[in-house]
Amino acid sequence: MKRIAIFASGSGSNAENLALYFKNNPDIEIAAIYTNNAEAGVIGRASRLGIPSFIYSINDFKEALSIVTHLQSLSIDAIILAGFLRLISPVFIQTYKDKIVNIHPALLPKYGGKGMYGMHVHREVIKNNETESGITIHLVNEKYDEGTTLFQAKCDIDPFDTPELLAEKIHELEYKYFPIVIENWIHTL
Ligand code: GRF
Repeated sequence: MKRIAIFASGSGSNAENLALYFKNNPDIEIAAIYTNNAEAGVIGRASRLGIPSFIYSINDFKEALSIVTHLQSLSIDAIILAGFLRLISPVFIQTYKDKIVNIHPALLPKYGGKGMYGMHVHREVIKNNETESGITIHLVNEKYDEGTTLFQAKCDIDPFDTPELLAEKIHELEYKYFPIVIENWIHTL
């Protein structure tokens, strides 16, 4: 059995999608959800799904030791960042080396780096008249959005697409592919 923790800062629709996908899987369990945002939608989703959620301060995430101890007390094997908006401290990366995955709502290396998250990404992509965007699922290292890519998928951008419409297309790709990519990857750990 592999036990996964999800880190999320916002709505948590990907967290929910992952939890539903793995619900009856005997080998993989979404065992806990961690957030830095006491107002995050993901907290309500976790409680409806019956998954324990834990709120920690930004400082706790920076310092990392208390969260790592907590993760270890829950025998967590891997961490998924699903809309987690903070840089992951090196303590997490050393403790969970090659066991942290992020989903980024663009085709890295384009539209990555500090400040490039959520709608900021989609606004920039539309502003630059790109004809396609997509998702990147990658391992996490000390730099924003620079770890090894596990998977990418693309979508077309139509001339009348707005950042909001693009966000919807990206979410569709995320819901479709993220669970499958995680399932395949987790078996390699
Ligand atoms: C997703 O588009 C994810 O790629 C990005 O933030 C968004 C989170 O959405 N990093 P949600 O909270 O899962 O609904």
